[in-house]
Amino acid sequence: MQTNQLNGKRILIGVTGGIAAYRTAELVRRLRDAGVDVRVVMTANAEAFISSLTLQALSGNPVRTETFDEAAEAGMSHIELARWADAVMVAPATAGFIARLANGLADDLLTTLCLATEAPIAIAPAMNRVMWASPATQDNVARLITRGVAISGPGEGDQACGEVGPGRMLQPEDLVEQLNDMFGTSLLSGVRLLVTAGSTWEAIDPVRGITNRSSGKMGYAIADAAVRAGADVTLVSGPASEPLPASVRKFRQVTSARDMLHTVMDEIDGQDLFVSVAAVADYRPSSVSKRKLKKQNDDVLHMEFIKNPDILAEVKKQKPGIFSVGFAAETDNLVSEGRKKLLAKRADLIAANFVGGDFGAIGSDSNVLELIDRSGVTRIGPALKSTIAEQLIEEISVRFHAQSTLQNTR
Ligand code: C5P
Repeated sequence: MQTNQLNGKRILIGVTGGIAAYRTAELVRRLRDAGVDVRVVMTANAEAFISSLTLQALSGNPVRTETFDEAAEAGMSHIELARWADAVMVAPATAGFIARLANGLADDLLTTLCLATEAPIAIAPAMNRVMWASPATQDNVARLITRGVAISGPGEGDQACGEVGPGRMLQPEDLVEQLNDMFGTSLLSGVRLLVTAGSTWEAIDPVRGITNRSSGKMGYAIADAAVRAGADVTLVSGPASEPLPASVRKFRQVTSARDMLHTVMDEIDGQDLFVSVAAVADYRPSSVSKRKLKKQNDDVLHMEFIKNPDILAEVKKQKPGIFSVGFAAETDNLVSEGRKKLLAKRADLIAANFVGGDFGAIGSDSNVLELIDRSGVTRIGPALKSTIAEQLIEEISVRFHAQSTLQNTR
């Protein structure tokens, strides 16, 4: 496991009625070993698979099943329990529970707690492979993803029903790892990372300009995830509609692509990693009028544009040793276009995403990325941009550390 971020944390484990519930005992034991204060809530169906006494003994706390249990409510009311948790993990999460959660039902203690808590929620699905693949379950999971619920698994393999396929609950040690990551990691501790985010504004005159619909969400989420992974982060942002991530201490606001280039070059000294998420305008008007342009009699207005500097390519030219990550927002041929950019900009990794579609990159809350490097393609998502950002930071850190090791042994 990474550095233990779990020590002293308060985690509520929800157990629903699936055969995998016997493995929740191991999950609870491991969490206790990591220093977690664990409380367990079971659904009525879960009690058919594992005894509350086992989970009580392992967690060291009374196990709750009823919303209106007078004695338990006198100790800690269900609202207090929802507030108490630093994180909630439901393992196993059955198809029925996922459906109730996706629909916002509060018909038992566990669903009520999930509605009443502000803590992050993760679920570890466990069910027959056909139930997992069914459009109803997949719709429910997609809805939960857009609400920020982390979906841990399921894994593939032999199932209790005799079938083989996706639907197995992840191993307890993997679930512990995922909970650990929810509280931050040390993947990039001591690493200096520069991120660009947002759009650029290329002035035409004092009032008008050329820009794009980038919201800054993806770049800001990456900056935040990098801080939580222990990196020393500097964020250079063009115009964006998102609020700045509170976790980022070093921030520089810029307007045009050339501003962005100068600021990046000003900050690049001593940086180990460059992540270029900004949607930089490829061209700018060849001249900027000092006065507001007047409407002409002609129906057609011609304008001349000149190419902007390519910041990602420039950074690698100036600092060949830096690990650089670029983005590619495409409408077609995602992977082949991404590969072209990898080579043209001498980047170490390109994160390519579609513009448009269900998980279209620009402006939306969710995303899917194809990560392209010299050894192949890895997909992350679909998931909320905050989850994608965490996974991307993990993928970057693996490659970054592998490259640093290689450079040091040369
Ligand atoms: O060539 P294209 O604009 O699709 O490349 C996208 C990638 O290059 C992104 O990482 C973007 O931040 C970066 N870029 C840049 N400077 C430009 C244009 C794009 O850094 N002028």
